[in-house]
Amino acid sequence: MRVLGLIVLIAALGPLGTAGASEVVVYTARHYGQEPAIEAFTKKTGIQVKLLAGSTGELFERLKAEGDKTPADILLTVDAGNLWNAARAGLLSKIDSPELASNVPASFRDPDNRWFGLTVRARTIMYNPTKVKPAELSTYEALGDPKWKGRLCLRTSGYIYNQSLLATMIKRHGEAKTEELARGWAANYPVLINSDTKILEGIAAGQCDVGVTNHYYLARIVAKDPAFPVLPFWANQQTTGTHVNVSGAGVTAHAKNRANAIKFLEFLSTAEAQQMFADVAFEFPANPQAAVNPIVAKWGKFKQDDINIASAGEFQAAATRLADRAGYK
Ligand SMILES: [Fe+2]
Repeated sequence: MRVLGLIVLIAALGPLGTAGASEVVVYTARHYGQEPAIEAFTKKTGIQVKLLAGSTGELFERLKAEGDKTPADILLTVDAGNLWNAARAGLLSKIDSPELASNVPASFRDPDNRWFGLTVRARTIMYNPTKVKPAELSTYEALGDPKWKGRLCLRTSGYIYNQSLLATMIKRHGEAKTEELARGWAANYPVLINSDTKILEGIAAGQCDVGVTNHYYLARIVAKDPAFPVLPFWANQQTTGTHVNVSGAGVTAHAKNRANAIKFLEFLSTAEAQQMFADVAFEFPANPQAAVNPIVAKWGKFKQDDINIASAGEFQAAATRLADRAGYK
């Protein structure tokens, strides 16, 4: 079991004097950006939030091992593929909440209401504008064109963000077409880099000219260095739209503070809390009533793929097999 490596961050947030009265325990694999919303929740409700941070894998194993003894009320993590896996393993429970159903668009939540997307991230094409004209770019598929040979930086196929991208494409276009895409990428000998931030730095430094990353990694860099020489290109605008994924949460199957946990999720889905996520983490709010951060808004409106993101989980195993067959490492 790998739970020993967990970093425990028990946070006593909010007004003093209410500790122990009312709480919610959150296992979180989100690295940052949720703090202001959590503080606002405690201020509003008096409910204390206890956080236990770890990697998705660690928290998943811990929840499984703890079973009905778990102190966790909420699992908060990134990527619908991870949320889907947790739901399939029976770690999350259904919630019937009209508020969540109206705040979170249907494509960003589990059709069976066991998890809800709270922030939205676009995984799109990034390019160096001194080397590439936007007119040369179009789709994820077109990055398999031989003109990108030796010019492409990618994450490995085993990384969940790319697994989810391939998985939603399988749902959209079937395995044969998606395999063709993976073969095209592999044939261009992509430089495989194990960090979205490092891919962006690689594009800026001339290691490659194009890549695929989540948009907020670029926003974080641009917030500190507005002249950073990389731009996003919204992929697949003439076809199915740019791939978007979520970070999100569900109430655990054995939550001891279930009512508080539901309140917590409902609060995180409100425009007020969503605005905090968008401003701190540069992600798109799931709730369309909150505004996009100005750094991200500057990149323009775009069409998102509106496929239900549960398909990232449903086709995860198929995506892994397909990448193997295609030689995309
Ligand atoms: Fe990320």
